Amino acid sequence: MKADVLLGLQWGDEGKGKIVDVLTSNYDIIARFQGGPNAGHTLEFDGIKHVLHTIPSGIFHKGVLNVIGNGVVIDPVIFEREINEIDELDIEMSKLLISKKAHLILPTHKLLDAASEKSKGKEKIGSTLKGIGPTYMDKTGRNGLRVGDISDPNFNEKYEKLKQKHIQILNFYDFDYKLEELEKAWFNSLECLKRFPHIESEHFIHKAIKDKKKILAEGAQGTLLDIDFGSYPFVTSSNTITAGACTGLGIAPNKIGEVIGIFKAYCTRVGSGPFPSELFDEVGEKLARTGNEFGSTTGRARRCGWIDLPALKYAININGVTQLNMMKADVLSGLKSIKVCTHYMLDGEKIDYLPFEDNENLTPVYTELKGWEKDIMQISSLEEAPQEVHDYISYLEKELEIPITLVSVGPDRTQTFFR
Ligand code: GDP
Ligand code: IMO
Ligand code: MG
Repeated sequence: MKADVLLGLQWGDEGKGKIVDVLTSNYDIIARFQGGPNAGHTLEFDGIKHVLHTIPSGIFHKGVLNVIGNGVVIDPVIFEREINEIDELDIEMSKLLISKKAHLILPTHKLLDAASEKSKGKEKIGSTLKGIGPTYMDKTGRNGLRVGDISDPNFNEKYEKLKQKHIQILNFYDFDYKLEELEKAWFNSLECLKRFPHIESEHFIHKAIKDKKKILAEGAQGTLLDIDFGSYPFVTSSNTITAGACTGLGIAPNKIGEVIGIFKAYCTRVGSGPFPSELFDEVGEKLARTGNEFGSTTGRARRCGWIDLPALKYAININGVTQLNMMKADVLSGLKSIKVCTHYMLDGEKIDYLPFEDNENLTPVYTELKGWEKDIMQISSLEEAPQEVHDYISYLEKELEIPITLVSVGPDRTQTFFR
């Protein structure tokens, strides 16, 4: 038995949460492998809209096991809030297990994130300010605190030592802060984290694979935000790609099965950084409005643009995508024509890849397809969609050379069609 991976192919917010929720009934285990509360994964069903940040999106399916893997970074305060929000829904939560090796986001990590962004001025990354970068820095710097450390009798000492290190760095910045209240809340919230089993998640996963359990690894962020392959430095601090499921859960590369790549029928990006096919006109505004493009974590407006084939092909190659899922097709309804970026021009030369150089001089080259008038949000099967929708899907499949196995036409579980 092999583990499947589901991840974003663009700059995040492709609709991963919705599809993990839709697919969970086919799996025994849903496991997050990287990122932390910078993620906001939205699920909608039975009139309930819910946003998850740290907890895997299989949490509303009875009988399934949810795992927060070693590659994830956890803010106990946000985690507790998420648990409380689920409790309030009065829906039984499925089982949740947490890796002892997952790193903890300290209050000072968040302060460091904020201080670093402030010092960057106009060059800021547009971080969600959840402490992600500083926490992963401590992980690779071999200073971090992990979930398994909480039960160590010397935990408070370890915490204090790392905090003092952070305070020294904070002194370097011109940054005012108040720590006491944050710290108090943080220590209180550890009690919530203790309610859930802390496990050796890699052994758990190995046994599950051996026992032929079906596993879906849930990615956060998107390929173009990957620390190695994204538009550096405007990226997040983890490997968001398929390889991240290997390091973030302990799944061997030869145990990866299907790789489901999720993309929007157009493009969005929240935060700073290059976005070659970004729109600054009324079409971009329409996409933002119809698509309700506001960050699930920060509420910030998302930048919108046309679909970008060179970027998608790059993401498909890096991840070894075997199936594509196209999201938010409904948002394109009502457009006379739809543009698709097929190439870029760089210094007078036509290129079909994302170059290393900062792409201020990169101009997208578009082809145009016919749009459709009918609002497809209410259709009950894909057959009811206008011919132009099918033409758009066929065109993308031909260009990307990977089958589009699912099309989504609305935020609800039911607005999903398999092909
Ligand atoms: P994620 O981070 O990849 O899970 O995506 P987000 O939840 O941050 O953002 C996706 C947004 O689009 C959420 O508000 C979803 O409810 C919504 N959504 C998902 N699929 C569709 C769709 O097919 N059509 C529309 N209109 N909205 C969708
Ligand atoms: P999901 O899982 C969209 C972006 C931030 C910023 C950059 C770095 O919901 O798709 P960080 O907080 O990691 O230091 O921010 O990455 N970013 C996301 N954008 N969706 C996300 O997650 C994101 N997580 C981080 O906006 O540009
Ligand atoms: Mg999101």
